[in-house]
Amino acid sequence: MVLEKLSLEGKVAIVTGGGTGLGKAICLAMARAGADVVAAARRVELIEETAAEVRELGRRALAIPTDVTDSRQVNQMVERTLAELGKIDILVNNAGIVRGDLPRPIWDISDDDWRLGIDTNLSGAFYCSRAVAPHLVAQKSGKVINVASGWGLRGGRHNYMYCCAKGGVIQLTRSLALSLAGDNVQVNAIAPGLFATAALETPEMREFFADRGRFIPVGRIGSPDEIGPLAVFLASSASDYITAEVFIIDGGGLAGGYAPTGYAPVIPIKED
Ligand SMILES: NC(=O)c1ccc[n+]([C@@H]2O[C@H](COP(=O)([O-])OP(=O)(O)OC[C@H]3O[C@@H](n4cnc5c(N)ncnc54)[C@H](OP(=O)(O)O)[C@@H]3O)[C@@H](O)[C@H]2O)c1
Repeated sequence: MVLEKLSLEGKVAIVTGGGTGLGKAICLAMARAGADVVAAARRVELIEETAAEVRELGRRALAIPTDVTDSRQVNQMVERTLAELGKIDILVNNAGIVRGDLPRPIWDISDDDWRLGIDTNLSGAFYCSRAVAPHLVAQKSGKVINVASGWGLRGGRHNYMYCCAKGGVIQLTRSLALSLAGDNVQVNAIAPGLFATAALETPEMREFFADRGRFIPVGRIGSPDEIGPLAVFLASSASDYITAEVFIIDGGGLAGGYAPTGYAPVIPIKED
């Protein structure tokens, strides 16, 4: 009974940013749970790889090249999903600029920098939600999962676009959840802490992130495949009574561990 409720058999899921990192892990977890998957992002070869891996798991898959900052492309992606897979049950707004945006003083941030950060990390989720919501409401069931960040819940020194956009994603989650609650559509956010995605590909970054792991209560950063089960739960009927919530998955970081606010820890860590 419990495991049946977690099944996504017969469901169709769209995952933005599905060609890499957490988005790819979510695509594969959804497919393993039974869903057909649409991976949408800009780099075609990467979403094609995800789609191929989903098909190997026995599910239908589409790779739809999409820039989420362009609402016309988003609308076309949703129309193509409906035309080829027949319906949409789950939307995962995962696309984002993660570490491309180095912290800078506010006076060094141009209008274009600001727009790109906000458009990618917040407007994209809005455009996708706006395009998908009418279909979820019409079928009187659906799930929207927004990938926010611990940065959406705390400030960061010289960190403007990412913090503001991720805070906005949490507020988008709450407003959309309240708006669609009467139509049996649940909307929740996942706020990851520090996860080993593309940024770990160089030895320097590997060392940097290994060091950051010391400041996380569980003693390590997260692995992308650890996000899949939470996404599946929030996409499944096992979570039908949960909406407008933020699920933090960060090894205890926000509770009082790693504090990437731009200031060094003032109390030295005592090694056991
Ligand atoms: N890893 C972490 O520690 C961490 C922590 C907190 C939150 N997050 C959040 O988790 C999500 C995934 O991040 P990740 O760590 O997996 O990093 P990632 O591998 O860099 O994934 C980001 C994805 O977003 C896509 N994307 C970026 N701009 C886009 C656009 N304009 N249109 C469509 N897709 C776009 C990228 O694909 P293309 O470049 O091919 O378009 C890429 O697949 C992000 O929202 C991030 O903010 C990650």
